[in-house]
Amino acid sequence: MSNNTVIQTPETSLRQALTTSDHLDVSAEGDLLIEGASARGLIEKFGSPLYVVSEATLRANYRRIKSAFEANWPEPVNVMYAIKANPNTAVRAILHQEGAGGDCFSMGEIQATFDGGADPEKIVVNGSYKPDDVLQRAIELGLTINMDSEEEVDAVERIADKIGKSVRVAIRVKVLPEEYFKNFTSDCFKRPNFFQGMQRSKWGETVNGAKRIIRRLQNHKNLRLYGYHTHIGRASRDPNMFAAIGGELARNIGALYAETGFAPTMVDLGGGWARERDPEASGDVVNPHPIEDYAKAVCDAMAQQFHEVSMPLPQVWLEPGRYIVGNAGVLLTSIGLIKRDDELGFTWVNVDSSTNNLLQVDLFGYTYKAIAAEGMARPITQNSDLVGLTCVPSVFVRDCPLPDVKVGEIVAVLDAGMYAEAKGYHFNSLPRPATALVSGKFSWLIRRRETVQDVFATMVLPERLRPEA
Ligand SMILES: Cc1ncc(COP(=O)(O)O)c(C=O)c1O
Repeated sequence: MSNNTVIQTPETSLRQALTTSDHLDVSAEGDLLIEGASARGLIEKFGSPLYVVSEATLRANYRRIKSAFEANWPEPVNVMYAIKANPNTAVRAILHQEGAGGDCFSMGEIQATFDGGADPEKIVVNGSYKPDDVLQRAIELGLTINMDSEEEVDAVERIADKIGKSVRVAIRVKVLPEEYFKNFTSDCFKRPNFFQGMQRSKWGETVNGAKRIIRRLQNHKNLRLYGYHTHIGRASRDPNMFAAIGGELARNIGALYAETGFAPTMVDLGGGWARERDPEASGDVVNPHPIEDYAKAVCDAMAQQFHEVSMPLPQVWLEPGRYIVGNAGVLLTSIGLIKRDDELGFTWVNVDSSTNNLLQVDLFGYTYKAIAAEGMARPITQNSDLVGLTCVPSVFVRDCPLPDVKVGEIVAVLDAGMYAEAKGYHFNSLPRPATALVSGKFSWLIRRRETVQDVFATMVLPERLRPEA
């Protein structure tokens, strides 16, 4: 072995993967620290498995995306946290303190948003079909409704007229920049014919549909046309994709302005902003593009189109979910059983959670980074499959580089802040983990651990089927 050979340890592996807003470190004893709290201390206090949210990371991510867009856009920027990514009320409350707006999809998401605190002026409601009760609540609260179709205008009109209240509305537009997408392969969604998929997707109105809505709503009694919306999602980490979408959206908005005279107050660009550490792209790599690259690419592309038709610049609204909460969350899970098969040459490290608690692995094949959270100075000696409890394979990480771990030790899966708690489900009747918030060395329970009784709390067994005592 040459003197220059660096021995890989969980600590070196963590340091290689750190991004600007992570608050992860290693203590002198070799334990993972989330802000100032050790993984071991958190598990002793709250039990295992455990989602942990770093308050400092949340705040840093919100501030960074806000200033990235403000630096590139002269009009106000409204960063609306997409609560679907993590509906925890404490997460919402922290972001409300920061001044974040919000994107909601359902009655539940409206409730979660307002439970944590919200300024109605900065909140939008999305969805291809919003049931009447959702529309009514949105209008009563004074939220902006991003309408998905001409058909939805009827529903919003009916309810606004019924309760006699005016409402701000925007039009979700189907944006199809064919030039960019004709030979496009997503680094995230493994599906062929992406462009046809975009055409076929249920979301948004065509430009002609948008024109009919504008004509219909000019001088409307209760529906005040406020702007436009689109959302493509985390289809690529290429800033040019966001520029293509923003440019094409702005070109269409400009053409509609030239034809109808409607100058929007805001343009809502949706979510999907790629993060720095990026399991979405199925690689243990750090995204070379900081958020500032995306902000510049999309803002430049839009400004150019608006200038061409001399349209006043609108406000920019955004709906980031993953960018804000992704790396703010870590899933801590304890090793329960280590199975070695010398004949086949495999080792399976079984932990006490499952991909039920990190569903993006099963749904989209995201490749998360998992590291031993104790004894982090030990050399990595094995590549074992890190597997969970359920009867689907539940492989958190295939060939996970680990030291010589033992039963009872903790493993940390990074980037569990997004779409983990939100999509967690009860397969194999497993109760869901608790969630703790960390700020400095302090920690609080922000979601209690479920019990088996919770899993069955909504089931009703008819009297006649009850087993005899
Ligand atoms: C309309 C809309 N806005 C925002 C988001 C949040 O996206 P992300 O978490 O990728 O930023 C989504 C995600 O599905 C969405 O559908």
